[in-house]
Amino acid sequence: MVRIIHLSDIHFGCENKPAVAATRDHILANPPDLLAITGDVTSIGAVAEFQAAADWLKALPEPQLGTPGNHDTPYANLVARLFWPFRRYDHYLGPAWRDGFSGPGLAAQSVNTARGAQVRINWSKGAISESDTERVTQQLARAPAGTLRVALCHHPLIEITGGPMTARVRGGRHCASILATGEVDLVLSGHIHTPFALALRCHDERTYAIGAATLSLRERGAPPGFNVIEADDQTVTVTAQGWTGSHFEPFRTWSLPRRQAAPPSAVAEAEGIARAASGVSDSLTNGA
Ligand SMILES: [Fe+2]
Ligand SMILES: [Fe+2]
Repeated sequence: MVRIIHLSDIHFGCENKPAVAATRDHILANPPDLLAITGDVTSIGAVAEFQAAADWLKALPEPQLGTPGNHDTPYANLVARLFWPFRRYDHYLGPAWRDGFSGPGLAAQSVNTARGAQVRINWSKGAISESDTERVTQQLARAPAGTLRVALCHHPLIEITGGPMTARVRGGRHCASILATGEVDLVLSGHIHTPFALALRCHDERTYAIGAATLSLRERGAPPGFNVIEADDQTVTVTAQGWTGSHFEPFRTWSLPRRQAAPPSAVAEAEGIARAASGVSDSLTNGA
């Protein structure tokens, strides 16, 4: 069994203090195999907010793996956002790029979807690079068969039907397809402050997009919370814990069938077929 605690959008500066304190207590009482933090750790990228975030995370167990969100850039300073958007994140929580974790039964890589500026009015939406995605996918593919492969980003790569806001990630659908084809198991994100879990409609439909709620006062129709993700050989169970005002309790739970690792004989056969069919590429359907 592999266990991940997935936090997002704590937004230090406007964090929900009782919920954040209870989250710390939960993590200390139930240390996970990985603490994943999918960005928007601060509210406006202020030094004091980063310092508070760093102090809070230092008191929590390793391993931890994060990726920045749009709010982790210097929000009110266009020049700084243009030229050094992740300098503070790198200093206090970094690195913002090329970070990963590998342990027994679990491999994780982060890919930055936040940008300090974009050539569009709403720069806070997401963007993802194909080369970053391919690098992450290749890194995760090196893990032994049966390893739970996890990618972290801030913005959901596909739009969530019924979600409270959009992410409009440039390159999102294409890169979601790359991750699914590379048989990454989970793509964790935040940004919309609402928990969700759904299969990406491409490849074998066993790659799941999972979103965590916020731990801030910036609620968007769902209570503050975090995800507990537990995976055995057959199933990934996602429990979104929701803050009631005094304690956490399960808010929603998803039970997701896990991609099955092919036995060595099947891998050899598939490689033989692939060699025979060299030059023919797969046609993938992305209906997400
Ligand atoms: Fe956020
Ligand atoms: Fe965000």
